[in-house]
Amino acid sequence: MSSDKLIIFDTTLRDGEQSPGASMTRDEKLRIARQLERLKVDVIEAGFAASSNGDFECVQAIARAIKDSTICSLSRANDRDIARAAEALKGAQRGRIHTFIATSPLHMEKKLRMTPEQVLEQSRLSVRFARNLMDDIEFSAEDGYRSDIDFLARVCEVVIDEGATTINIPDTVGYAIPELYGEFIRTLREKVPNSDKAIWSVHCHNDLGMAVANSLAGVKIGGARQIECTINGLGERAGNCSLEEAVMAIKTRRDYFGLQVAIDTQHIVAASRMVSQITGFTVQPNKAVVGANAFAHASGIHQDGVLKARDTYEIMRAEDVGWSANKIVLGKLSGRNAFKQRLQELGVELDSEMEVNAAFARFKELADRKSEIFDEDILALVNDESISS
Ligand code: KIV
Ligand code: ZN
Repeated sequence: MSSDKLIIFDTTLRDGEQSPGASMTRDEKLRIARQLERLKVDVIEAGFAASSNGDFECVQAIARAIKDSTICSLSRANDRDIARAAEALKGAQRGRIHTFIATSPLHMEKKLRMTPEQVLEQSRLSVRFARNLMDDIEFSAEDGYRSDIDFLARVCEVVIDEGATTINIPDTVGYAIPELYGEFIRTLREKVPNSDKAIWSVHCHNDLGMAVANSLAGVKIGGARQIECTINGLGERAGNCSLEEAVMAIKTRRDYFGLQVAIDTQHIVAASRMVSQITGFTVQPNKAVVGANAFAHASGIHQDGVLKARDTYEIMRAEDVGWSANKIVLGKLSGRNAFKQRLQELGVELDSEMEVNAAFARFKELADRKSEIFDEDILALVNDESISS
């Protein structure tokens, strides 16, 4: 099943909420779910229905309120969890049960205390049970990247036979390296005889800062057609693959990826701010796409370039992700051209080039003492001059 459509699966409300200190109320989750629907996210993982009554109610409320995105609930690979997920998803226009079990030797032996054969059998029975309740079934092999590839291939083959429609291979602990992860997904798909019957998905954590790169390699090298991600990269420990970065990489480098995403990118900044405000997790200023400085130009050479042609230093348009415009930050590195442009924007008309030069000299003096020069500072230094002259 290979197509040029890349499915965006957002798990801000489930894996994102696993971030210590990021828990959200039902109303807050509903607000975020509506924003994700506005963004045109394909699948919203609304929670883990069996984990608590509160989470069950959140999944249920989101399933009833959201019409345009598929709503998904996580569940362990057991009948009780799966039945609870199906129950919570009853009101959904389109629902998905996402069931998972660990497949790495370490997790099977130490955490689950199960043999590989038992895990294989439990995977088979869980997907069979889930498939009787719903058509759209995702199976995740937790710690999939650290699993024995031949065993993992057997598990994938069995669950696809039982009717799993999406197979997700998480890098649960953020251990992967892009090329290796991409190759792992590609080899795994080759080893699974019925691999074409499912959509392959990547789910990467950011412990080594490579969640986005690994996810993109899983798509490009491995042939995955679903990325699991969160707004602002929120998630357990160092977080998950960031939605805004993955989506803008796919869009900006369509020449390389050749894939389509449905995301309406103009709602990205609003989504980022909403998640930050609700969770209290601030976004670092230099964060790609959604950081306050992501489209700010401070050096004189860059400002001059951008004023002449934006493409010189901008690979994306600020407006395309929901910023009102790019930002020329006036400071000690700014050049005369940027200064003159700001005077024009402020409606200041100086009579001669000599006056502009004098004002620019005063601006440079001030900028040596003050890291950022605001419009009020410029107006003050221009007005001072007209008073003294
Ligand atoms: O990181 C992980 O393995 C997960 C699974 C439950 C999908 O979040
Ligand atoms: Zn995860």
